[in-house]
Amino acid sequence: MKRVVFNQKGGVGKTSITCNLAAISAAQGYRTLVIDLDVQGNTTHYLVGEIDAEAFPAEAQGVAGLFKQTVGSRRMSKNPDAFVWETPWENLFLLPSSPVLTHLEKELESRYKIYKLRDALEKLDAEYDRVYIDTPPNFNFFSKSALIAADTVLIPFDCDSFARQSLYALMDNIAELQEDHNPGLEVEGIVINQFNSQARLPGELVAELEEEGYPVCRTYLNTSVKMKESHREHRPLIDMAPSHKLTLQFLDLYAELEAGRD
Ligand SMILES: Nc1ncnc2c1ncn2[C@@H]1O[C@H](COP(=O)(O)OP(=O)(O)OP(=O)(O)O)[C@@H](O)[C@H]1O
Ligand SMILES: [Mg+2]
Repeated sequence: MKRVVFNQKGGVGKTSITCNLAAISAAQGYRTLVIDLDVQGNTTHYLVGEIDAEAFPAEAQGVAGLFKQTVGSRRMSKNPDAFVWETPWENLFLLPSSPVLTHLEKELESRYKIYKLRDALEKLDAEYDRVYIDTPPNFNFFSKSALIAADTVLIPFDCDSFARQSLYALMDNIAELQEDHNPGLEVEGIVINQFNSQARLPGELVAELEEEGYPVCRTYLNTSVKMKESHREHRPLIDMAPSHKLTLQFLDLYAELEAGRD
């Protein structure tokens, strides 16, 4: 089961949602792989902290290393698992991002490597029960590769008034990608994040989305300082604050998504 978390709008909660759902999946005993396709590397930083650049040369590691070997004569020689890192949590694994992804992108694009992530993940099908993919806030080579490789897409929505406008463009992009590359890709749900039930606007925005027929997930995620603390401590919520309200909402969201697969 491969899920990509995507919204081309920045700061909507892609990284927070990817890492926290993946950490819950791992805590429930599923071998879970997180893939960080964003050059900002926020997921990588969240899960493993600062990386020793000397010990792990940027070009050879994680996503960059995986894609690099698809270029030129060094064909997919290593198993994709060779680029996967362990994390401090049992069952939770990471294919980290790297700063070299920006210049690698042009090369990969010009050589039509858009299906390589899908091919690599097919080779890992037997290794991992769940794959969660974090994407950059752009509809670029990496996010397209993820949408092609995934079974479903989750769309975080941060309840501000620009979020609604960008959703139309986003849905158009997804529809085009489904048609051209991945007809099986399912829009699993829009995840309402940073919801504030005290304010009027978020409730109105969500009601409008539902009226327009968007598949909005029933579980909403509230705003909480715990999220920032969790990033700062490099500990997903399920580990840092297992009974906090936001963690319970993530558990509900996880259960809602899993139930939808039955
Ligand atoms: N439910 C929440 N409550 C409080 N803060 C949150 C919540 N969700 C996300 N944040 C904060 O909002 C910021 C953006 O979140 P995050 O990095 O997950 O978004 P993103 O979509 O991955 O951003 P980018 O587009 O830059 O990759 C972070 O500082 C994060 O801690
Ligand atoms: Mg992010």
